[in-house]
Amino acid sequence: MQLNWKTLPHPIIALSPMADMTDSPFCRIVKSLASPIVFREMVSSEAVVRGNGKTLNMTAIHQDERPLIQQIFGSDPDVMAEAVRIIDREQNPEGFDVNMGCPVYKLVCNFNGASLMKDPEKAVSIVKAMRAATTKPVSVKIRLGWSEPTECLTFAKALEDAGTSMIIVHGRTKMQGYSGDADWDMIRQLKEHVSIPILANGDMFTAKLAMQAIEQTKCDGILIARGALGNPWIFSQLEELLAGKPATPISIKERVRVIKNHLALHLEHYGEKSVTTFRKHLTWYLKGLDGAKKYKERLHTAPTQKDIEFILDEMQADPEMKDAISHRDATHPDAGERMKLTK
Ligand SMILES: Cc1cc2nc3c(=O)[nH]c(=O)nc-3n(C[C@H](O)[C@H](O)[C@H](O)COP(=O)(O)O)c2cc1C
Repeated sequence: MQLNWKTLPHPIIALSPMADMTDSPFCRIVKSLASPIVFREMVSSEAVVRGNGKTLNMTAIHQDERPLIQQIFGSDPDVMAEAVRIIDREQNPEGFDVNMGCPVYKLVCNFNGASLMKDPEKAVSIVKAMRAATTKPVSVKIRLGWSEPTECLTFAKALEDAGTSMIIVHGRTKMQGYSGDADWDMIRQLKEHVSIPILANGDMFTAKLAMQAIEQTKCDGILIARGALGNPWIFSQLEELLAGKPATPISIKERVRVIKNHLALHLEHYGEKSVTTFRKHLTWYLKGLDGAKKYKERLHTAPTQKDIEFILDEMQADPEMKDAISHRDATHPDAGERMKLTK
């Protein structure tokens, strides 16, 4: 069935694309717990068109991840369109997204990512070329602006006129990087300014904060990035809150169960030796978790899956960890306080 951002049940809840993080194993873990739409990490349109094997592998989709949106970056409309044709033919994702918000130097110095916000004509050509290359929806992920938060208003209008099906906005400018708070009020103004669906993004570190953002931005939905790292339950907790139920606290047993499953999928996907690349996820799973400090070092140096599982079992059996709760759990007393959590 064709995905349509306008007719999807609201609010739309989605996992935001994160390079090196929202890969197939992580997306499958998220999907095993709840039903957000997943946005895969960005891939380079140039690399796709060149037939780079590693990049093409990054676009492979497991059925459990659908519906899935593949994000791509680049600055040449023809190359972007060709990348869309290739990915569409090979992997058949439910939609495409263009990265026009990434502030990292590697992208903006090549007029990719957020630098496209300084060149609306190019941005419009990219959207038009991509739309001509696929029948799937083409969305765009932007920031509030390059330097001024109001820049998104005219930029989004131009994207809308070019046939963009939906816009995701991270509530900060490129110049801000990750400093300050995401400006949910400016996102609300953008939502009022255009008629296509808008998804809000930025600083939803807990399900309670996501509820606040949905309420405050009045958007069609939200995307969660950092709040989902090591905390894939944020989506099931959000689904509970949206259904008017209290969020289920995440027990140590449940945390350990999911970490083990994630590790198994990661190793199956990248090979036995990839324990080292799983360590970034372990860091996130233990972030803000009371009493986990003494296990962190050991988990980060454990050489095999068996060693990690052994330490996790020990952590689960530790009476001190019995009631351990992460400050990113929606049931934590600080779960709705944005300032505290960003520090
Ligand atoms: C590790 C990491 C990788 C990211 N990679 C991407 C990416 O590939 N594409 C993109 O559009 N945004 C990327 N982002 C930005 C996020 O999708 C999101 O817009 C930003 O982190 C703000 O949302 P948050 O406050 O929920 O984290 C990345 C963010 C992080 C932390």
